[in-house]
Amino acid sequence: MARISIAPMVDITDRHFRYFCRLLTKKSMLYTEMITSSAIIHGDRNKLLDFDSFEKPIALQIAGCDKKEIQEAVKIAEDWDYDEINLNVGCPSDRVSGNQMGAALMAYPELVAEIVQAMKRETNKPVTVKHRIGIDGTNVLPDTLPKVIFDKYEDLEYFVKVLSQAGVKHFIIHARIAILEGLSPKENREIPPLKYKEVYKIKENFPHLFIEINGGIRNIESIKEHLKHVDGVMLGRVAYENPFILTEVDQFFEGGKVNNISRREIIEGLMDYVERFGKDKRMGYNALKNTLGLFYNKRGSKIWRQVLNPTWDEGLFAKDILEKALQILPQDILDERPIEKYKKI
Ligand SMILES: Cc1cc2nc3c(=O)[nH]c(=O)nc-3n(C[C@H](O)[C@H](O)[C@H](O)COP(=O)(O)O)c2cc1C
Repeated sequence: MARISIAPMVDITDRHFRYFCRLLTKKSMLYTEMITSSAIIHGDRNKLLDFDSFEKPIALQIAGCDKKEIQEAVKIAEDWDYDEINLNVGCPSDRVSGNQMGAALMAYPELVAEIVQAMKRETNKPVTVKHRIGIDGTNVLPDTLPKVIFDKYEDLEYFVKVLSQAGVKHFIIHARIAILEGLSPKENREIPPLKYKEVYKIKENFPHLFIEINGGIRNIESIKEHLKHVDGVMLGRVAYENPFILTEVDQFFEGGKVNNISRREIIEGLMDYVERFGKDKRMGYNALKNTLGLFYNKRGSKIWRQVLNPTWDEGLFAKDILEKALQILPQDILDERPIEKYKKI
């Protein structure tokens, strides 16, 4: 059985965006933003961990490096009904890797194995790991840790082997290395080349593991192609740049089919959602700010972006803005449905 998921993305995959995604795809796994274990322990837990049951199935992504602290965070999160707990071993940000979190952890498979075992002591939910195919530049790591180079396929294979022995059955692999020095997180999503074959090879060498591929996958045709080699596909940027594509991804799940919904119906769904924020303009704006791509490459794209801009609001509340948008957007584009595309084939 294949699965599609929407990647964890800081400042994007908050609960509002996840609600929007759920209007588009009923079956995909939705991820939270990365939340550090210390934020879960010391921060405002309800704000960080609450979600609407409409968003399910949903996975919580945790970043951290301290085994005890991560274990504690997982224990706390058990009071929320997440469907999966994911460990971030892929983030290249200095803020994260400089603290030996995220991608830097790839150099220490045994340490990650201990973290995962500690997580599994607190939950029966699947514990998954999201990582890169390797890292470069481990000299950013502190002197307390041995320096290791970790950028060959054999290193990746060793990482997966050690973690599978620790009980991880599901890996999400971003098919490029992370360069820990000299590149920003954004550059680290663009500059290191994509090497999908390394991920395919992991599936070949570990056929019993669930291997999900991530990185640069932007259309239905390439999802189909990847699913010939691996078990799942994780979509990142395309989910907010061109979200309407998500209406088509449920077909890849067992028994799933295209979600034959129109943009008009999605906007109506958003109207029901923003009603809960009533006259709170800031919340209304926040709830809609990551839906900007709904008219990607279509007539109406400019109007949609305009009406969602906080400077446009003309004194209207979020629900009224959406009502107005339904009047002024091109009616044929509002009523387009994904299934029409399939009829033409
Ligand atoms: C704005 C933004 C924020 C991100 N935040 C996270 C994060 O919190 N945790 C994580 O594991 N990856 C994060 N990523 C990386 C994505 O999950 C994904 O691995 C990456 O964008 C590659 O997939 P794509 O080419 O489909 O976008 C982020 C990416 C973007 C664009």
